[in-house]
Amino acid sequence: MAREELLEMTRSLIAHGRAGTMELADEVVRIPASTYTDPELFELEKARIFRRLPLMLAPSCELPEPGCYKAMEVVGVPVLLVRQRDGSMAAFLNMCSHRGNPLAQGTGKASRFTCGYHGWTFGADGGLLGIAAPQDFGVVDKAALCLKRFPCAERAGLVFAILDQGSTLSIDDALCGYDRLLDHFGFRDWILFEQRTLTGPNWKTAYDGYLDFYHLPVLHAATFGSDFFNRANYFAWGPHQRLANPSQHAQRTGSNERIDLSAMDEADWPVDALMQGVWTIFPHVSIASFYGGGARGAMISQLFPGRTVGESVTTQFYVMERAPQSDAERQGAHDQFAFLETVVAGEDYATGKRQHDALMSGQMAHVLFGRNERGGQVFHQWVDRLVRASDAELPALFRAAAASGRQDAIPAAA
Ligand code: FES
Ligand SMILES: [Fe+2]
Repeated sequence: MAREELLEMTRSLIAHGRAGTMELADEVVRIPASTYTDPELFELEKARIFRRLPLMLAPSCELPEPGCYKAMEVVGVPVLLVRQRDGSMAAFLNMCSHRGNPLAQGTGKASRFTCGYHGWTFGADGGLLGIAAPQDFGVVDKAALCLKRFPCAERAGLVFAILDQGSTLSIDDALCGYDRLLDHFGFRDWILFEQRTLTGPNWKTAYDGYLDFYHLPVLHAATFGSDFFNRANYFAWGPHQRLANPSQHAQRTGSNERIDLSAMDEADWPVDALMQGVWTIFPHVSIASFYGGGARGAMISQLFPGRTVGESVTTQFYVMERAPQSDAERQGAHDQFAFLETVVAGEDYATGKRQHDALMSGQMAHVLFGRNERGGQVFHQWVDRLVRASDAELPALFRAAAASGRQDAIPAAA
C-alpha cells in the first residue's frame, strides 16, 4: 500500500518533469515577520508544539541494543531514552525521584542507573531498585517513586516521544500515516556512522530552508552548483511534508550515474528512487539521501529551538544502509558528511542568522512565500494552527488530517 503511494508520487514527478512543470500553490502568502522574532510567540511554540507533539529523539540505530541509553535536554526537559530488555524503547524524565538530580549524562550502556547525588538506584525500566541508607531515610513507597515516563514509540526506525506525561494525543495519530512511507528507507536495519551538533538561527528560519528547493541553485551555487534544480513538488500528510524535484531521472544507488525512470518498468524502480527528495517530519526533522561511502546514506537533521528566539540547535545524524567496508569507503562517507556541514552551517544557517538579525530590526512587516514555496506555506499554517489549538482539540485535529490522507494541493487556509 505504501509502496503504491510511493509509485503514485513518482509517476506524478515524472509527468511534471517531462512537461517542465510543478504543482503550484494557489497564491503568494504573506507571513508577519514578527513570527520569527517575537519572544512570546517563541515561548508558546515551545509549549504548544514541542511539548505537546511527538518529537523524533533518536534514530533507532543510535541505541541498537538493550541497555543503550541517551540523556538529552529537549526544550528544557531532561529526557533519558533507554532501550529495554525486550528491545522496545522507553523515554523517562531524567530526574531522580529523590531530589531531581539528572540520573544519567551523555550516552552509554547500563543495566541500572545510580544517582550521583545520594546514590538511589533505578533499573533500566525506570523502577526504583534501592534507596541509600534506607534504615535512616524513613519509609517511602518505592513503587510510587519510579522514574516518570513519557509516551514513546518507535516507528520507521526512529524513536518518538511526547514530552507530556498526561498527553491524550497518540503518536500514531500525530504521524498521520507518514511513518508507513518513511519505513521504506529501512532505517531499522541501518547503522549510525557519525553525528554532530550545529547552532543555527530561529528554529522556523532554519526549518524553512529544509522546505524549499527554490534557494538551491543560488545559496548553494558554490557547493551543489548553480545548475541545480529549484523546483519541488510537495506532498503533505497532515503537517509532514515530502519535497521532490519533478524529474524522470534518479541517481543510481552507489554512483553518480543518473537513471531514466520513464524508460524502466515500474517494478524495477529502485526504492531509493522512490524515496528521493527531502522528507520532513513536523515540527523538527528533515531527512535526505546521499551516497558517499559506497552505500546508501541519509542525513537526518533534528532541530530544536534554542534558548532564545534567535537560536536553534541541530543534530545531524549520518546513517548508512551498511557500514563502510574499507578505508576508502569510510573516507568517502566522512567526506560526504563533512560536505553537509559546510552546506548547512556555512550556507543555510549562516544566511539564516543574517536574515534573523535583519528581521530583528523590525523594519519589515511581512515575508513572502511564493506559489512555488508550498512547503513553507503549509509549515507556517500548521505552526499557527497548533499554537492556537487547545489540548482538547489536538487529537481531533490530527485524526482529521490523518483521515484526509495525502494532500498534493494546498489546503484552504484555516
Ligand atoms: S537526588 Fe538522587 S539520590 Fe538524591
Ligand atoms: Fe539549503
